[in-house]
Amino acid sequence: MAENTLKPGLEGVIAAETRLSSVDGQRGELIIAGIPVEALAGNATFEETIYLLWHDALPTASQLAQFRADLARRRELPQATLDLLKEAATQKSVVMDALRMAAGTLGLSTTGSASTGEAEEEALTLVAAFPTIVAAYWRWLHGDEPIAPRSDLGQATNYLYMLSGEPPGPEQVRAMETYLNTVADHGFNASTFAARVIISTQSDMISAIAGAVGALKGPLHGGAPGPALDMVFEIKEAARAESHLRDKLERGERLMGFGHRVYKVRDPRAEVLGVAVERLYQSGGDKALYELARHVEVTAVALLAEYKPGRNLQTNVEFYTALLLHGLGLPTELFSPTFAVSRVAGWTAHCFEQQQTGRLIRPKASYIGVKDRRWVPVEER
Ligand code: ACO
Repeated sequence: MAENTLKPGLEGVIAAETRLSSVDGQRGELIIAGIPVEALAGNATFEETIYLLWHDALPTASQLAQFRADLARRRELPQATLDLLKEAATQKSVVMDALRMAAGTLGLSTTGSASTGEAEEEALTLVAAFPTIVAAYWRWLHGDEPIAPRSDLGQATNYLYMLSGEPPGPEQVRAMETYLNTVADHGFNASTFAARVIISTQSDMISAIAGAVGALKGPLHGGAPGPALDMVFEIKEAARAESHLRDKLERGERLMGFGHRVYKVRDPRAEVLGVAVERLYQSGGDKALYELARHVEVTAVALLAEYKPGRNLQTNVEFYTALLLHGLGLPTELFSPTFAVSRVAGWTAHCFEQQQTGRLIRPKASYIGVKDRRWVPVEER
């Protein structure tokens, strides 16, 4: 690349090396720390995936027990965090804003740039506390008291428990584990890059992750929850699917939950979540909705091939994420925060990786302003 070539949005620019995840959009392949997502997501607990990302190896049984315990005892929130969440709930802040603000308070004991040991401590605290923050805030927002985390439960189980107050069944836990594993890391997306930029200045882990939450909030990244599901709800019954979708395409609208900037074949995460969703809805829940969604999916893919030939527009991760989280009883407002509960694993792993390179991320901008503006004192303007 020529020294001064402009790459708007840094598209195609390789800014780092990573061993955390490999995204191949042409082959429809996602590998997480060496393991294809299809092999990892449906088998691992979320703790195993976090450990794998952080340590570049699957934990042994004793390492896993220790890691689970290390996370479990960091789930309780500091009083200052609880106070802030309670106040935010009275102002009806959106959940991602509450999460960003609360994430910042987890660093009350830190003093600025973090040593490696402190970074690990902060990373454990962040990963452990994110589900508690989201669940406590959600309950306060709806006039309920938060439910204290249970240290005898795994991350996924405890998250569902704190949201509803009911211990989830095994199929629900498996579905949540699979979701958390599937979206834990995905190359150099905007929030991951934001975290790496912040930590590259030798700032601390808490600052980096609070920044990443801010980046994830935007609608172009993780902040447009549930539009795919809304489309299924709008359609209401299978017989209406084709005409409804055709009308949208005739009007030049996009079908939500289809197409991807990177994947030009089916998104492997959609594949993995599709299997998890089928299991979840077979074990209970709104089977009619599931059947309708499958019909909408098949119809949409066929119509996209007709209206956009050669584009190969396939189902993306949003479609099955929406169905899965809905099947677990989560409202759409919790989709992005639940994404953050998972992605904090990848963000923290990227921060560790960035700290090892020690290189400040500092690109350039091409100046396009004037260079000969005359200084005029304020009284003469
Ligand atoms: N429905 C209808 N047409 C589509 C769709 C869609 N979902 N996606 C792309 N197209 C069409 C475009 O209109 C365009 O057609 P044209 O050349 O005739 O104008 C062509 O396919 C290429 O579109 P681009 O915008 O260049 O493709 P891009 O790679 O930028 O799009 C995106 C990716 C933004 C995800 C797009 O597919 C989309 O808008 N999908 C719907 C929204 C959605 O599901 N978002 C969640 C994405 S999942 C995630 O990001 C984690």
